[in-house]
This record gives sequence, structure tokens and C-alpha cells, in this order.
Amino acid sequence: MPDTNATSCPARPAAGPAAEPIIRVRGLTCGYGRHVVLRDVSFDVSKGEVFVVIGGSGCGKSTLLKHMIGLLAPMAGSVALNGRDIVGAEGEDRLAILRDIGVMYQMGALFGSMTVLQNVGLPLEEYTDLPVEAIEVISRVKLSLVGLEKFGQVFPSELSGGMVKRAAIARAMALDPSILFLDEPSAGLDPVTSAELDRVVRSLAENLGITFVIVSHELPSILSIADRVILLDPQAKGIVAEGDPRVLHAESTDPRVRRFFDREARVPEPGEHESPPFVPPASQPGHQPGDEAADTTPTAEARP
Ligand SMILES: Nc1ncnc2c1ncn2[C@@H]1O[C@H](COP(=O)(O)OP(=O)(O)O)[C@@H](O)[C@H]1O
Ligand SMILES: [Mg+2]
Repeated sequence: MPDTNATSCPARPAAGPAAEPIIRVRGLTCGYGRHVVLRDVSFDVSKGEVFVVIGGSGCGKSTLLKHMIGLLAPMAGSVALNGRDIVGAEGEDRLAILRDIGVMYQMGALFGSMTVLQNVGLPLEEYTDLPVEAIEVISRVKLSLVGLEKFGQVFPSELSGGMVKRAAIARAMALDPSILFLDEPSAGLDPVTSAELDRVVRSLAENLGITFVIVSHELPSILSIADRVILLDPQAKGIVAEGDPRVLHAESTDPRVRRFFDREARVPEPGEHESPPFVPPASQPGHQPGDEAADTTPTAEARP
């Protein structure tokens, strides 16, 4: 649950009447070893929503995403996707849940030795018995959905950074998932390319009704794509604000919300240091031994 001081703003209504949420997270407590990153977090995502998890670096966005796709097991709580709990699911049940979601991992995700078309068709080869001709047709359709229909025969190294991300989204859509999870999709992209990617996401959500769960800390992108956000905070170890990001941005007076939304707009006062003064790690609230080392784990975002 958002903590009792959490800011809540009305969000753009999701497509259709209030139905059973497509994602239901309840009482999720998670972390690494004895280090709790998020405590007792609960929220829902509606079908067709573009739901964005926001917050500064290290607040637990990627950790939350990894628990939502069943990659990590929580300390407590449940995550239901399409009404089925992923936490306890095993074997065929688990595969069935996973087959219905798509995940876009970071840059290195495309195989360099395969063409873009072959990359997109990979999940179909792995999870279906479709003949190669059908796989090729479906893969071409997916590529056209992200505007890459002319690039099926090229290799990933020949694509720009933004095109690689779009191809990775096409591959995540290969099995027609109802939910797509993207971790920092615009990381490393220039503003123009990033805006293009945002348009692709919005059009997929609006035209195909795909539900998106996106991790992001990039303001322009958040303001343009999100129907609803949750803001995570490392001190609270949970959700401190929730709602339409444009409303939060314009109206919230919560200092934690302001800190997030105003950080790029704020110009340092004359004589003021641009970076915060050094604080010894042991005196930082919420800091745990080993955090620095952990930041270099594969959760760090790949840059093109
Ligand atoms: N594999 C890991 N092992 C231990 N600690 C980790 C690991 N991954 C992340 N952390 C720690 O968990 C916290 C949240 O990290 P993360 O979810 O990656 O944050 P964000 O995605 O918001 O930047 C950070 O303190 C980070 O150092
Ligand atoms: Mg992250």
C-alpha cells in the first residue's frame, strides 16, 4: 500500500469499465539477502494502462519489475498476473503465466549473429510448433508494428540505438502477450529517438490494448506516455505517490514528489555545488553495506 502520507492524484481512466485488474500486487516485501528494498507494497494495474514505475536511482524500480515477472522470489506478498499468482507457480503453470507476458531487457538482448527478423521469431521457435513460414510472417507483422518492416534482414549492429529497442519490443510481442514489461526503455537514447520510442509505446497501448509496465526516471518520457505512475522512495521503502504524472508534476506539494519532478528544472544557486555534498555512507539513511557493489550487478542499465 502507499504509505499513509502518500500523495494520490486521479489518473486518466484506463480503457473500458473498471474490470478485474490485470496485475495485482499485494503486501510485496522484497530485497537482497537481509537488505529490504521494498516493504509491504500493494497496487493494481488495469488492462490497457501504461503504468510507469518512477523514482530516483536505487529506489527499487528494477527490483520491483523483476519480482513482477517472477524472476526473483519475494520475502513476502503476492503478484498476480491475469489473476494467476506467479510467486508460488511452478512447472507448466508458471510457463503459462510467463507465456502471456513480454519483457524487454536491456541493450544486449538481441543476438548479434541473427538477423532482426530471426531475433523477433526466436520466442515463436522456442515456444510454438509453428512452421518456419508462419514464424516469418508473424515476425514481419511484429516488426511492422514498431516501424521496422524494412529492416528484417539486417543484423542488430547495423541498427541505431532506438531501432534496437524497437526490435526488442517487437520480439517481446512475438507471442502476443497481454502485458509488456520494459525496464528503462529510453536509457541511452537521445531525446528525439526517445520521443519516437514513446510514440511506439503509446500506439501499441492504444491500438492493441497491450498493458505496459515501464520503469523510467526520464521526465519527458514519463509525462508523455504514462496513464498512471507510482513513485518509489528509498527511505519509505515503498510507494509515496500515485496517480497521473501530469497532475503530480503540476500540483503536488509533497517534498518527495517535488524532489523527483523538479530535479532537472532546478538551476543551482550561484556558489552552490551542483552535486550534493559528500556524506559518509554509514550515515546515509537506508544505506546498507554492500550497496555499492550491488550497483554494479547486471541491474545496472546497459548503454549503447
Ligand atoms: N543483485 C543485487 N544484489 C544486492 N543488492 C541489489 C541487487 N540489485 C539491486 N540491489 C540494491 O537494491 C536497491 C534497489 O536497486 P534497483 O532496484 O536496481 O534500483 P533502481 O532500478 O530504482 O535504480 C539498491 O540499493 C541496489 O544497490
Ligand atoms: Mg533500474
